[in-house]
Amino acid sequence: MNEELLRAWRAGADEPWTVLLDGFHPLKHALRFGGAVRQVLTADRTGLLALAAELAPDTVPALESLAAELPEKALRTLAPRLHPTGVIALAARPTTGANRAALARRPRSAPVVLLEDPRNLGNVGAVIRLAAGFGAAGVVTTGDLDPWHPNVLRGSAGLHFATAVERLALPELPAGPLYVLDPEGADIRETAFPDDAVLAFGTERHGVSAELKARADRLVAVPMRPGVSSFNLATSVAMGLFHWMSGRPPGAPLPDGRRGAGA
Ligand SMILES: C[S@@+](CC[C@H](N)C(=O)[O-])C[C@H]1O[C@@H](n2cnc3c(N)ncnc32)[C@H](O)[C@@H]1O
Repeated sequence: MNEELLRAWRAGADEPWTVLLDGFHPLKHALRFGGAVRQVLTADRTGLLALAAELAPDTVPALESLAAELPEKALRTLAPRLHPTGVIALAARPTTGANRAALARRPRSAPVVLLEDPRNLGNVGAVIRLAAGFGAAGVVTTGDLDPWHPNVLRGSAGLHFATAVERLALPELPAGPLYVLDPEGADIRETAFPDDAVLAFGTERHGVSAELKARADRLVAVPMRPGVSSFNLATSVAMGLFHWMSGRPPGAPLPDGRRGAGA
């Protein structure tokens, strides 16, 4: 039985569509937001179900059918730095086609966040978590970094499954008016972001490229006191999305990111 579980894991982990969910919270979000979770392994199935019943009762039925138990020693051969919640899982990442379709859907009820050539995996995870929380329609990255890298998934707490996350090349930006956030732009308080905006942010060290600035409908800045050169990338995204949300009527529900439904 153990051998069978290990064999299935190794075969699944080698598939290009697979992402590793390390710990309970990414697993919870994947299950809750419709991720295709294929295998769940834990050294303590009863403990996992009790944790789920306490923190996320909606995930208990799925875990009852998916969770299998392996001795901790065997589990650690798959995940040497096992998360304190003692569970690992494999899920299928949504296909590029599904993400592109979600990003192209019109009319859009919430902005898309564009990160130009981000370098820091933790920043990208934090941005995806923000985008999911605000109900953004998606997060698009350009450049080499894979936005589905395991460390990005850890940073997002698995909230990749609650929005559309895809890497694109700059010429194929999602449709919609392009607002580029840049310290040299006009004061953000003079501008309201429409629901179909693309909110673009530059790379950590060098900021927004000339090519992207040239395509902007508007350059906007979050004011800073003299002597401060810039904010951190993820905090800038938080402020941009909060600025968009602040334009919505109080109490209005936030859209359902990936599906694009909602108010
Ligand atoms: C760490 S900053 C890049 C710093 C870079 N040296 C520069 O001058 O733009 C990363 C990104 O966060 C956004 N950002 C940072 N501070 C901002 C501000 N005050 N207003 C608008 N966007 C800002 C921009 O999109 C920027 O490209």
